[in-house]
Amino acid sequence: MYKLAQKALFQMDAEVAHGLGIKALKTGLFPAQKDVYPNLKRSLFGFEFPNPVGLAAGFDKNAEVIQPMLDMGFGFVEVGTVTPKPQDGNPKPRIFRDIPNKAIINRMGFPNAGLDVFKSNIKKFRHTPHAQEAIIGVNIGMNKGQSEPVEDYKLLIRELSEFASYLTVNISSPNTPGLRDLQKKENLEPFLQALLKERDAQPYHRPVLLKLAPDLTQQEQEDIAGVVMNAGIDGLILSNTTFARPDYLDAHFSKEIGGLSGQPLKDKSTDIIRNFAQLTKGNIPIIGIGGVANAMDVKAKMDAGASLVQLYTGLVYEGPNVAQNICKGLSKAA
Ligand SMILES: Cc1cc2nc3c(=O)[nH]c(=O)nc-3n(C[C@H](O)[C@H](O)[C@H](O)COP(=O)(O)O)c2cc1C
Repeated sequence: MYKLAQKALFQMDAEVAHGLGIKALKTGLFPAQKDVYPNLKRSLFGFEFPNPVGLAAGFDKNAEVIQPMLDMGFGFVEVGTVTPKPQDGNPKPRIFRDIPNKAIINRMGFPNAGLDVFKSNIKKFRHTPHAQEAIIGVNIGMNKGQSEPVEDYKLLIRELSEFASYLTVNISSPNTPGLRDLQKKENLEPFLQALLKERDAQPYHRPVLLKLAPDLTQQEQEDIAGVVMNAGIDGLILSNTTFARPDYLDAHFSKEIGGLSGQPLKDKSTDIIRNFAQLTKGNIPIIGIGGVANAMDVKAKMDAGASLVQLYTGLVYEGPNVAQNICKGLSKAA
């Protein structure tokens, strides 16, 4: 059934297809179909995750379809990236597919409806039955052109901690000028200290996770590992999309500017997970992400040191049963 729909969706511009998907999910067209796998439960950050497979940031930027995504079988959902003010992002088209290689390049640039709409949506969700126990990550970013990035992140921590299970500080999108510079040691240290201070001042104490790019050099990774351990960051999300362009990609696709995700990112993100697990001596939990599409991919991320995983591109290519199918496979193998 999805294969037929997918054929039609793949004829459309990728962002139009995504918009249709969100609309369909909002109508409640898809009945809940999740099975429960008691042997896949994971305890982390003070929560009990029903399974270790989460939806990655970027799919539900405005926190509009949290329940439908949980109903698809995801063990947790990360919404955002949200910025304080609404913004349009980069000119369209800005999402591209390489179907044979199960890859996407995007240069969205954080288009989103802004804090007010996001907050109202997530608040509404938290007031629905059973929503209190749902594990929802809130991925926060800065508006384009913000000269004091730390102020945007602090504002979002203040406004959204109440509704978030955990907060993800996104400094690794390749599509917001200057953002990735925050990963530099001299910038990162004071930045994280300020954010954790803001977090500590809130009545709701939430874990703060840092989402990083996979394109960091060994030296940069060593520097960041030192900083996050000193600062007391609760977890790492590895990784965001990559600037890399493996030779085998379609030539037209490959020349698009933006971040590459999906299968061609898989091994690169697994490598950076392994490296950070070693650099932090396993003391900082890692959520592994990049090219996850089946139970074997999850196992590879976990063998490298991840405690949980997330996916986005796998949902586009494998369809709405992806989380269910992965859990089935993991549960059998456990
Ligand atoms: C179209 C698109 C939009 C994305 N938007 C965001 C975003 O807003 N914030 C973020 O942290 N990551 C974003 N990502 C990155 C994903 O969360 C994920 O880190 C990356 O795609 C690798 O995982 P995957 O191979 O399973 O897609 C986006 C990815 C795609 C494909």
